[in-house]
Amino acid sequence: MAVKIEARGLYKVYPRDKGEAVPALAGLDLQVYENEFLAIVGPSGCGKSTLLYLMAGFLDATAGELLLDGRPIRGPQRDCGIVFQHFALFPWKTVKGNILYGLEERKVPRAERERLARHYIAQMKLTGFENSYPHQLSGGMKQRVAIARTLALDPAVLLMDEPFGALDAQTRRLMQEELLALWERKKKTVVFVTHDVREAVYLADRVAVMTARPGRIKAIVDTRLSAAARRHELLESEELVAKANAVWALVREEVEKSAALGE
Ligand SMILES: Nc1ncnc2c1ncn2[C@@H]1O[C@H](COP(=O)(O)OP(=O)(O)OP(=O)(O)O)[C@@H](O)[C@H]1O
Ligand SMILES: [Mg+2]
Repeated sequence: MAVKIEARGLYKVYPRDKGEAVPALAGLDLQVYENEFLAIVGPSGCGKSTLLYLMAGFLDATAGELLLDGRPIRGPQRDCGIVFQHFALFPWKTVKGNILYGLEERKVPRAERERLARHYIAQMKLTGFENSYPHQLSGGMKQRVAIARTLALDPAVLLMDEPFGALDAQTRRLMQEELLALWERKKKTVVFVTHDVREAVYLADRVAVMTARPGRIKAIVDTRLSAAARRHELLESEELVAKANAVWALVREEVEKSAALGE
C-alpha cells in the first residue's frame, strides 16, 4: 500500500512567554496509507489537534519530518481538505455562499458550482437553509455547513478534527453514515480525530492511539469491521463492541497518566 502521509520523529514544542515551553509532540512516527480511513484517539491535550494542524500545513514542526506524497509539507496544501471544530464560516455569507466560496476560488464553472452546492446541501441535510446566515444556525448546523464546504472541493486528503463534536447523537449517527458512504464511493485518505472510541472504531480501518502529552503513537489497532458489522442499520454489533473495548483499554491507560499530570 502506498504511503500518503508520513511523520518521522515529529516534534512540536509551543514556546511560552513565561515558564517552560510546552512539548506537544515528541518523536511521533506515523504512516497514513493512501485511501485509508485512519482515526486518532488519545487523552485531551495529548497533541491530536497539533498533529492535524501540522498535516494541514498551518503549523511548522519543531523537528522531524512530515511528508505528503513523499514531499515535505510546507504551508497549506491544495488537495488537503480540512474540517476543524473552530474553523469559522464566513459570517457575512449565506450557507450556500459559504459552500460556493471555495469552488469560485478554484474557478469551477458556474453550473457545476451550483450543482455541487445543491448536492452537498442536501447530503448534509441543510435543505431549506441555503439562504440563512451562520448566526441563524445552531452549532450542529454550522458544523454541517463547514463539512459540506470542504466535501464540495473533493480533496484527496480529508483532515477532520472532531467534526461531529457539536452534533446531537442522532444527527451524528446520520453524518457518520454519510461520511462512510462518501468515503466508500470516492476513495480518499481520511485522518479523523475524535474523543469517541466507538466512533473511531465504527468509521476507521485503523485507529491510532496516542500517548499522554507529549504525544507519540502508542499503538495502532486494526479495526476494520466485517461488512455485516458495518451495515448501516446496525447500531451495535459484538464485533464493534469488542474492538472498541480493546481500543478503550489502551486509551484508558493514557487518560489516567494524563490525569496524573494534572491535564
Ligand atoms: N498555540 C498554543 N500555544 C501553546 N500551547 C499550546 C497551543 N496549542 C496547543 N497547546 C498545548 O499543546 C498541547 C496539545 O494541544 P492539542 O490541542 O494538540 O491537544 P488535543 O489532543 O487536540 O486536545 P483535545 O483533545 O482537548 O482537543 C496542550 O498541552 C495544549 O495546551
Ligand atoms: Mg484537539
